[in-house]
Amino acid sequence: MAAPLLDRHGRPPGVLRLSLTARCNLACPYCLPDDRDPPGLLSTGERVALVTAAVGLGVHSLRLTGGEPLLHPRLEELIAALRPLRDAGGLREIALTSNGSLLSAERAHALRAAGLDRITLSLDGADGASVARMAGFGASAAAPGQGDALLARVLAAIEHARAAGFDPSSGQLKLNSVIARGRNDDQLLPLAALARERGLELRLIEFMDVGSRNGWSPEQVLPAAEMVRRIGARWPLEPLGRPSHGTASRWRYRDGGGAADQGNGPGGSHLAVVASISAPFCGDCNRLRVTADGMAYTCLFASSGTDLKPVLRGGPAGPDAAGLSNVLAALWRQRADRYSEERSTALAYGASPTSTRPQPHAEMAYLGG
Ligand code: GTP
Ligand code: 5AD
Ligand code: SF4
Repeated sequence: MAAPLLDRHGRPPGVLRLSLTARCNLACPYCLPDDRDPPGLLSTGERVALVTAAVGLGVHSLRLTGGEPLLHPRLEELIAALRPLRDAGGLREIALTSNGSLLSAERAHALRAAGLDRITLSLDGADGASVARMAGFGASAAAPGQGDALLARVLAAIEHARAAGFDPSSGQLKLNSVIARGRNDDQLLPLAALARERGLELRLIEFMDVGSRNGWSPEQVLPAAEMVRRIGARWPLEPLGRPSHGTASRWRYRDGGGAADQGNGPGGSHLAVVASISAPFCGDCNRLRVTADGMAYTCLFASSGTDLKPVLRGGPAGPDAAGLSNVLAALWRQRADRYSEERSTALAYGASPTSTRPQPHAEMAYLGG
């Protein structure tokens, strides 16, 4: 039997985060996407070849990201083309992270029919003014109204996803909220109430220093422990821990969650936090990232990527499958990234936040989160 593929810290690959576009219809200030894609976007065939090679090396989960992946016009076609890989058992699930603003009832059904297993939507506030602020709608008099409209669209998207068969009680539908101190930390309880009422697991994410244009500073990070303390003071919580290779630490509401009474199952009875700054989880990170234009990154904070296009566009007959597998395996074997843990140590010893970051620093919407 071949030796297992491990990186320099003994970590096997498990998740491929595949960005389909760097564009987004929103401009959340913590992410600040580009308004155009880089040249050389991968085709559906190239993406299928890439996922096939990754699965051959041990990847079992695929997460489709952006920018906003629903802007990709052939998303359903891609998922349907990946379905045989999933039916064969190597790929156990296909998940999607979306801002939710474009998820119509038809699109939710089409995604489900194509073979999407899980969907995570983003919502950073529970009222129009907060949503507007976090989505980058500016400070004009019209912004709160635009925030109300976006909030209504995301709440409708949650119901469209549920109606299409994404079941929150089995983790198929979740809500992500990025929390920044002084910007939307007053939304913690309203967001928790909103998620509990709808039977959803809410995942509170510490504002991260991805990219170099979101104006991150340590003062804007509300530590996950503080988020849990504030919510737990209102609805007592029990820790469940972080699953191995997971990003989020989970908690259970002692009262079973607001939606339990309404028969919505256990989704809303859980809270989760992604504590990348205060409690980094690099130790068992199994994620490989590939951008929309085929650059492979072994960390969200890596300074540079490896261009897969030469092997993806290798032969006259299409992708060079063996070459692709070799390039990915070599990249994984030399992987030594543990940026978030290094940042933590450096900050604890008083280093300036920027001094710990590799340069240049790729942007969030390009990397796919
Ligand atoms: P699940 O499979 O449902 O647990 O999803 P996920 O948490 O892996 O993915 P999602 O797209 O919902 O991302 C949630 C947050 O975790 C986002 O802010 C991501 O940027 C962040 N995240 C995902 N992977 C990593 C990682 O390897 N390192 C760091 N620091 N953050 C990550
Ligand atoms: N810090 C933390 N999370 C972020 N996201 C985007 N930018 C940041 C950041 N700077 C989140 C999005 C989405 C996921 C893919 O990443 O809100 O939920
Ligand atoms: Fe778009 Fe996501 Fe960035 Fe918001 S966080 S601007 S939804 S890519």
